[in-house]
Amino acid sequence: MVMAATHGIRRMAVLGAGQMGSGIAYVAAVHARAHVVLYDKSSAQVTNGLALLHKLLDKDVNKGRITKEQAAEARERIVPLQMDGSGYTPLRDLDMVVEAVSENLSLKQKIFTQLAIDTNPSTILASNTSSISITKLAAAAIPESASAASDAGLQSAGRVVGLHFFNPVPVMKLVELIPGLQTTSDTLSRVEGFARDCGKEVTKSRDVPGFIANALLMPFLNEAIMCLESGVATREDIDKTMRLGTNHPMGPLELADFIGLDTCLAIQQTLHTGTGDTKYRSSILLERMVDAGWLGRKSGRGFYEYPSK
Ligand code: 3HC
Repeated sequence: MVMAATHGIRRMAVLGAGQMGSGIAYVAAVHARAHVVLYDKSSAQVTNGLALLHKLLDKDVNKGRITKEQAAEARERIVPLQMDGSGYTPLRDLDMVVEAVSENLSLKQKIFTQLAIDTNPSTILASNTSSISITKLAAAAIPESASAASDAGLQSAGRVVGLHFFNPVPVMKLVELIPGLQTTSDTLSRVEGFARDCGKEVTKSRDVPGFIANALLMPFLNEAIMCLESGVATREDIDKTMRLGTNHPMGPLELADFIGLDTCLAIQQTLHTGTGDTKYRSSILLERMVDAGWLGRKSGRGFYEYPSK
């Protein structure tokens, strides 16, 4: 509660109503008690995101974690909106915007450039990116009329920060915070307070490709895919070995399907191009699976089959 007073994040928007964006909206509305506008360009995604939020709230009521009244209040705090191509007019009076769209540098840069125009200069601009440079996104958030080293440029870029949640957001206890070169200490401490109010533990990483988590996790997932590719073992035995032999909650192939194979590939490519280190080169099998549209759980097929999708 003391944190809530200091970070001052009461009204926010989440851009992207996928698994991550909906999860972020949930913890923000339920735990940090923020008012959240949940945006997506696809109306189906907005509908699905809202359905997931309602399901999570119902489950928390059934489990006695929150009362019906608290759930009703949280529902009122979340407003779903479809982006209509006319800019983000309702973004004017917000304390923070969290971008949670797919892991694509040029898409995110475009969004940050637009956010620099559509938001108040005091609004924090956070990215839930898994691996993309926060410094690059901050540079994209400088208005055309300002240079990177001018006061206006520094002020605009200084409000950009990495706020990396983990999937499933309501369950996973961590948030990674990543300052870019330009991020101010005030921005960083405010988002730290907000993340703690969302019920999360916090770690801080320098702005390197993949930060802490994905720089460690992605080579592990990639090695597992290469094991499968080269016929070392079956998918079941690779996963079972890591689940039962090393106490991972999910095996690496199961986890890659859970994260999304397109997301895994995009992160691995960022790691590879960002470091030039061949240890991050993604397996051909992963590339081919993404080519085939086999993206894991979300598409109904990845290393395993998910027939209900
Ligand atoms: N959304 C919301 N909640 C979910 C969920 C989802 N997609 N999937 C499961 N849950 C919830 C369940 O509802 C349940 O909640 P409850 O305790 O309130 O009932 C809780 O998670 C446990 O679920 P289950 O009992 O059904 O299943 P498990 O005990 O097998 O746990 C799991 C499921 C939590 C997903 C567990 O398998 C796990 O921890 N897996 C590893 C997840 C992981 O590593 N995530 C990080 C991925 S990396 C990442 O996100 C970074 C990105 O940049 C790539």
